[in-house]
Amino acid sequence: MAGMRIGVLTGGGDCPGLNAVIRAVVRTSALHHDDEILGFRDGWKGPIEGDYMPLTMETTRGILPRGGTILRSSRTNPFKREGGVEALKATFERERLDGLIAIGGEDTLGVANRLHAEEGLPIVGVPKTIDNDLGGTELTFGFDTAVQVATDAIDRLHTTAESHNRVLVLEVMGRHAGWIALHSGLAGGADVILIPERPVDLDEVCDAIRVRHDRGSFFSIVVVAEGAKVAEGLETIGAKTDEFGHERLGGIGERLAQEIEERTGYETRATALGHIQRGGTPTAFDRVLATRFGVCATHGVHDGRFGTMAALRCGHVELIPLADAVATLRTVSDANYGVAESVLGLPVRR
Ligand code: F6P
Repeated sequence: MAGMRIGVLTGGGDCPGLNAVIRAVVRTSALHHDDEILGFRDGWKGPIEGDYMPLTMETTRGILPRGGTILRSSRTNPFKREGGVEALKATFERERLDGLIAIGGEDTLGVANRLHAEEGLPIVGVPKTIDNDLGGTELTFGFDTAVQVATDAIDRLHTTAESHNRVLVLEVMGRHAGWIALHSGLAGGADVILIPERPVDLDEVCDAIRVRHDRGSFFSIVVVAEGAKVAEGLETIGAKTDEFGHERLGGIGERLAQEIEERTGYETRATALGHIQRGGTPTAFDRVLATRFGVCATHGVHDGRFGTMAALRCGHVELIPLADAVATLRTVSDANYGVAESVLGLPVRR
C-alpha cells in the first residue's frame, strides 16, 4: 500500500522533547510505512501559509537530544486570523494530507480539537508543556526536564543563601498549575512553596520563615510559581496578551521578596528562572516519553483514529479523545500539595 502524506507541527511555548517526538514520527513512518512527512513551520502558521519542509531520516538525524523544535513554534490561532481556517483547509487539500500530528499544549490542542470536530480535519494530538497541566494525560514531556533545571537552581541557591543569611525567592514557570514549583520545591528542599491553586497568605509565608529562623536557621528558600496569586497589589502585571488571550506573566518573585523583607526584616532576594527551564537538552525520561507519544500518534494516524491525543494513563501510552484532553486542566490537588504541607510543617505551629 502506498504510504500516507502526514503533516507535523509544534505549537505554543517550546519544550524539551519536541524534537524527540518529531524524530519518532519520522522514523516510525519511514521504517514501517512509506509515508511522506511534511514538517509545518511555526505552529499553526505553517499550515495556514502552506509553509513546510520535508522531513526524512536524513533531515532529522541527531535531533533526539536537542532542545527546542527544528520546526520552530508560534502562538498563531487560525480561528483568530481572518481566513485562517479556510487557508489551512486549502493546504490540506493542496498537499493531499492524510493526517496531521499537532504537538502542543492546551491552546494548540484546543485548536486541533475544533478543527477536527467542526471542520472534519484528520488530526491526532501529542501533549506537550513543561507546566504538566494538560488534562487526560498523567504527564507531559518537558516537565521532568524543567523540574530538574529548577531543582539544580534550588541546590545552587541553597549554598549562597546559607553563606549570606538570606531569604531567596525562586520564581518558576506555571501559569495555571504549580507542578514545577511543587516538584522542584520538594526535590530541592524548599522551605515555602507557593502555587496558583492556593491563594497565598503573606502573613502565613512570613510566619513560616520567622518560625524557621527562630528555630536556628539563618536562611530560607521560597519557590513561587509565576501564576501564584498573592494579596491584592502583589499579583503579576500582565503586560501583553497573545492570540489565545494569555497575559505574559512574571515578576511575582521580585514583589514577594520585597514584601518578605519589609515584613520580616530578613534580607531577601529574588531570582526568576524564566526560559532557562524550557531550553536545553531533555532528560532521558522526557526523551523516552516524547518518543512513546510520537510512535503512538503515528500509529493513530495509520489507524484513522482522528480527533484523539496520545496520553499516558497508568503507565501506558494510549489514544484518548482530544475533547477530553482539552476539557479540563490538570492542577495540583489538595492531596498532591499535602505532601508539601507535611514536610514544610504547614499550617505553621509555634
Ligand atoms: O505554557 C508554558 C509556559 O511555560 C507558561 O508557564 C508560561 O507562562 C509561558 O509558557 C511563557 O511562555 P512565553 O514566554 O513563550 O510566552
